[in-house]
Amino acid sequence: MSETILITGGAGFIGSELVRQTLGRGDGTRVVVLDKLTYAGNRANLEAVEQDPEQAARFTFVHGDIADPEVVGPLMAGATAVVNVAAETHVDRSILDPEAFLRTGVIGVHVLLEAVKVEHQRAGRGERGPVRFLQVSTDEVYGDIEAPQRSVETDGLAPRSPYAAAKASSELLVRAYHITYGLDLVMTRGSNTYGPHQHPEKLIPLFTTNALDGKPLPMYGDGMQIRDWLHVSDHAAGIAFVLRNGVAGEAYNVAGEHLLPNREVIGQLLAATGRDWSLVRTVPDRPGHDRRYAMDGSKLAALGWRPRVAFETGLPETVAWYRDNPAWIASAKTGDWDAYYARQYGDRLAAGQAVDTTPS
Ligand code: NAD
Ligand code: TYD
Repeated sequence: MSETILITGGAGFIGSELVRQTLGRGDGTRVVVLDKLTYAGNRANLEAVEQDPEQAARFTFVHGDIADPEVVGPLMAGATAVVNVAAETHVDRSILDPEAFLRTGVIGVHVLLEAVKVEHQRAGRGERGPVRFLQVSTDEVYGDIEAPQRSVETDGLAPRSPYAAAKASSELLVRAYHITYGLDLVMTRGSNTYGPHQHPEKLIPLFTTNALDGKPLPMYGDGMQIRDWLHVSDHAAGIAFVLRNGVAGEAYNVAGEHLLPNREVIGQLLAATGRDWSLVRTVPDRPGHDRRYAMDGSKLAALGWRPRVAFETGLPETVAWYRDNPAWIASAKTGDWDAYYARQYGDRLAAGQAVDTTPS
């Protein structure tokens, strides 16, 4: 029997790439997306599959909340696998308004796991086949990692922002449901992801779209914070790989293997947009800003998976995508965008200063 994968949050950045890759395999797999269409969800991200008659025939979109058991129950009953990509995802918004992060990351994940439990019990009675659940998590659950350390999957969780705390809470629930009820659950911890269709609130699309418009680029603090960059096609492929090959109850780092300080990312981005450092402003830092994320990707490498896209090609391609898609950018910068931007950056940019780029 062919698979039916429920992908929650499938109208977002990484979720929509997972949908495109899954349907693009052309192996008969059906995909159901459950998405609340928050400010970050965008039906336009799914246009490619909805406009392809063969893929569209294997695709269903449901507008709803993972925290709503009435919606989740019937969808879970028809699924052979579930990937929970849905979350509130921006650290700065979690600092301004944490509640939505907990509603989706704690209550939402609890509702999904309860529904998996019901299906697992039905499978035990021979009423259906097995169901596997994958929780998409992040390197931010490990907290701030001092050089030269790299986080391994057995390290403790030490989240430091409301976003990361909500993601760690989701993971703890998943772990508890695996141990207590024997459910088939796996987790991925991806690193900072970039590529087409990412909401412009995040560093790379924000700086790209501002640079294209000739607007200031607000660099937090000294810009020497380190992130490990992973292309969205690799992140989605890593998730699909763990869904197929991961051991129940285990978490897997999906590392980009490309650690860079923000200043280096910004320098490459300025080159790709044809701008210079005069656009960049050093602005008051994010509170509790983690200095460094770094994961060891060897657990997944031992199973045969590695990222493929080099940052040096992935970044200019991403910049080109934003340059070529002004209508998509305009649609993403609607809703509360102007109010959010003023709240997050108004005072910061007013206090911003030119960046000293003389080599130290
Ligand atoms: P995104 O913000 O682009 O998309 C999130 C999607 O989830 C949106 O379509 C939104 O409408 C939907 N959603 C939010 N709350 C929902 C709810 N209660 N019910 C149903 N749908 C809901 O996020 P993204 O960047 O694609 O991240 C996807 C996942 O990957 C998240 O779990 C995130 O924590 C994780 N992650 C992201 C990164 C990154 O750098 N972007 C890195 C590591 C892990
Ligand atoms: P972000 O894309 O928000 O991802 P995360 O906080 O999950 O790592 O930010 C990436 C890095 O860029 C992080 O160190 C914060 C920094 N940053 C800025 O300097 N200015 C900005 O306006 C944003 C959004 C991020």
